Amino acid sequence: MKKYSNISFAIKSVLMTMSVLCVASVQGRAQEAAQAAPAAAAASGDQQFAVTALWVFIAIEALVLLLFVITMNNLLKALVENQLSIIAKSATPEAEAKVKAIVNRPSAWSKLMQKLTDSKPIEKEADILLDHDYDGIHELDNHLPPWWKWMFYITIFWSVLYIINYHIAPLWNEGYSQTAEYNAEMENAEKALAEYRKTAADQVDETNVELLTDDAALAKGKSKYIEVCAACHGDLGQGGIGPNLTDAYWIHGGDFKSVFKTIKYGVLEKGMISWKDEMKPSEIQAVTSYIFTLQGSNPAGAKEPQGTLYTPEVSVKADSTNTAKTDSVTTEK
Ligand code: HEC
Repeated sequence: MKKYSNISFAIKSVLMTMSVLCVASVQGRAQEAAQAAPAAAAASGDQQFAVTALWVFIAIEALVLLLFVITMNNLLKALVENQLSIIAKSATPEAEAKVKAIVNRPSAWSKLMQKLTDSKPIEKEADILLDHDYDGIHELDNHLPPWWKWMFYITIFWSVLYIINYHIAPLWNEGYSQTAEYNAEMENAEKALAEYRKTAADQVDETNVELLTDDAALAKGKSKYIEVCAACHGDLGQGGIGPNLTDAYWIHGGDFKSVFKTIKYGVLEKGMISWKDEMKPSEIQAVTSYIFTLQGSNPAGAKEPQGTLYTPEVSVKADSTNTAKTDSVTTEK
């Protein structure tokens, strides 16, 4: 009785699977058609959706197919078992043994596993038993698994190719070495850094700071100046406790970068504060730019010049017969 219920169950499964398959494929095609029609005319968004739907449909179909194969396999097994039980009742012991051998033959999976591991079946373990015994613990002389050995051989082969390519003669990828890779990365990083410095105003320092000329920056610089510098350098830069900032004489250098540096680090022993902790680099840049607009303004009550006459480099270059030194006059306080 049991064997018949087995068979009927298998047949039912096949029928069910096949009907699911039919429904799925009909539905899938309908969906596909529904998507394809507007997709031809409409935007690529719809087309994208149609492609996704198609893939979903294919996945469902594949799943159904797999189910179908498994069910067919089960059905066959059930049929064979049924047949066997009939034979077993009537046949000779030899015939029965033969049939059993067929039924019990290893599956494709276990054959594959056997190939990959090369392990001895438990019944044959005695053949590879080493003749020593540690408190009842035996050692088997198994082979290394072939999959492992092959991986090992491949790594050896690969290492030879690797050494040739990266250390002797390029075979592929132009022998792109770590040094070349490092250099390329450093180059990229420098480019990115330069790009970043350009965009990030507060990254400016005395090596790369530039004169600002836009009104917003100068206005910001002026208000900062009035707020914190005027007390010592005068409202108009005419000088006071600190030197006159409107003339061309500078104690600590008159080019933009030097003035920026003086303001940033200060001259502590002479009473000029270091501003780097009070102001952002961009603010120091703005104040410095503002000071440069005061050049030559000659305000009332201007303090006498201090330091060295600074002549911008461009005019020195233009006047090639004169050297910077003869242009410079040093005055004592
Ligand atoms: C407490 C007073 C004081 C304040 C505030 C002050 N300074 Fe000065 N500053 C000085 C003194 C003093 C010197 C002269 C240093 C020296 O003799 O080496 C000086 C020097 C300078 C110099 C160099 C001039 C040169 O000839 O090389 C610059 C530029 C300058 N100050 C800008 C500023 C700016 C901008 C501010 C505001 C952010 C400021 N100072 C605030 C006192 C001050």
